[in-house]
Amino acid sequence: MAPRTGFPGAGRFVPADANLDSLRAAASGCEGCDLYRNATQTVFGEGDGHALVMLVGEQPGDREDVEGHPFVGPAGRLLDRALHEAGIDRGRVYITNAVKHFKYEPRGKRRIHKKPSAGEVTACRPWLEAEIAAVRPRIIVCLGATAAQALLGAAFRVSRERGRVVARGDGRSIVATVHPSSILRAPDDETRDLEFARFVADLLVVAETART
Ligand code: URA
Ligand code: SF4
Repeated sequence: MAPRTGFPGAGRFVPADANLDSLRAAASGCEGCDLYRNATQTVFGEGDGHALVMLVGEQPGDREDVEGHPFVGPAGRLLDRALHEAGIDRGRVYITNAVKHFKYEPRGKRRIHKKPSAGEVTACRPWLEAEIAAVRPRIIVCLGATAAQALLGAAFRVSRERGRVVARGDGRSIVATVHPSSILRAPDDETRDLEFARFVADLLVVAETART
């Protein structure tokens, strides 16, 4: 039985046996939940179509919504730095999000990020599963609780289980860690440096797992 989310979901927009190009084209017209209404465009995953490592964020941010590419704003810059420190080449991974449209609240001239609901995450999951089926990564990295919720279920706790390799049952592994935005929000430099180091340590587990 399809999960009841209150949204029809992306399923009926996903072409069968598709490759990344046809998936991306189809996703540009997705109306599987209400988030397409106020966003500029669908931000689909990008990167190496045969990557060993797939990174999954939450949803596009303000910059990503405007530019149409995942992780090109401040969180993306921090992610780039952490990947580099962990010896992972951004050009050799595939990067996507659990939800493909930017959810926000207008506040004056600014657009304030809003966390996607469980129903929106479920509605968008067919795109994520189609990307996994097309790229066939060895290891999937959940960046933050929303991605972990999408792929590991609502009971998964990133704080408790970060940096651990979890088997997905299809021969792939999942490692969950924090979202890079949470590091940007650290209250002081010392905490930020510590959290950045922990993030890099989780990514080193990913690098090690991808090699074996
Ligand atoms: N945060 C995300 O989760 N994804 C992006 O693409 C950018 C910021
Ligand atoms: Fe479709 Fe996902 Fe966008 Fe909702 S967020 S409209 S399910 S692509």
